[in-house]
Amino acid sequence: MTNSAEDLRLWDAAASAYAGHVDGPADTFYRRVSGFLWDRLGVVQGLDVLDLGCGHGWLAEEMRRAGARVAGIDGSAALLAEARSHYPAIDFEQYDLTRGLPRPLRQYDRIVAHMVLMDIPTLDRLLADVAAALRPGGVFVFSILHPAFFSRAIVDEAPDGERYRKVTGYLEHETRWIESFGGHHHYHRPLSWYVERLVRCGLAITGLHEPPALPGADIPETHWTDYQKWFSTIPTMLALSASPFEPFPSPLRRTLG
Ligand SMILES: C[S@@+](CC[C@H](N)C(=O)[O-])C[C@H]1O[C@@H](n2cnc3c(N)ncnc32)[C@H](O)[C@@H]1O
Repeated sequence: MTNSAEDLRLWDAAASAYAGHVDGPADTFYRRVSGFLWDRLGVVQGLDVLDLGCGHGWLAEEMRRAGARVAGIDGSAALLAEARSHYPAIDFEQYDLTRGLPRPLRQYDRIVAHMVLMDIPTLDRLLADVAAALRPGGVFVFSILHPAFFSRAIVDEAPDGERYRKVTGYLEHETRWIESFGGHHHYHRPLSWYVERLVRCGLAITGLHEPPALPGADIPETHWTDYQKWFSTIPTMLALSASPFEPFPSPLRRTLG
């Protein structure tokens, strides 16, 4: 039993606010991870790329412009309507990702999920399908809100005391309510859960990126206050890349076995 129908209703209701606020490549969250993301994607010219949880489609369009054959999947009809109206050249499909990927399973060279996985209540089928849908040498790259530090209260006892984020119950799986864009659910899982689940699906971690939290969209670092410098040192986003692996090369397995 998951909340995905309710989640998707909330995303439909949020669609125009979200699409109006998240202005594609200029978005503050994207700017933090774009270097890592494109480094892991490499040259996408001629590759089959899936934008998982593509929302209103702006990242799918970035990858199409870079020469990839792009498909986008999302569960929100309203966000997909925005995507289709702006980017008619891209194949967008509506699908509830708690069910995994649509059948028949297509094969991809790259699968991207930017700011999506923490919004989905169950990931078991999806991660297994991502692993099965990647061609050999393929890459899965995703960004999420940082499980340890995002939405942890800031405690500020300066100038005499400390500033810190108050981390409690980190290892608990929790459903939280995020106010942005009219509100939606956030499904907290510790980082070790993601790593363990990816490995169990046959995906080896090839990179982990914790970008500094940017205090403001356009404030140059040279102008940051002490508070903003401190703020930047605790990451509120995390990005990971992973690729299919053979758990043990078979000769080694024979030796061990
Ligand atoms: C924070 S938005 C990110 C959208 C897009 N990747 C971007 O960066 O703008 C999260 C997305 O997850 C989608 N989503 C949430 N739950 C879903 C589900 N169960 N199935 C499919 N998509 C879902 C929402 O519709 C929304 O587009």
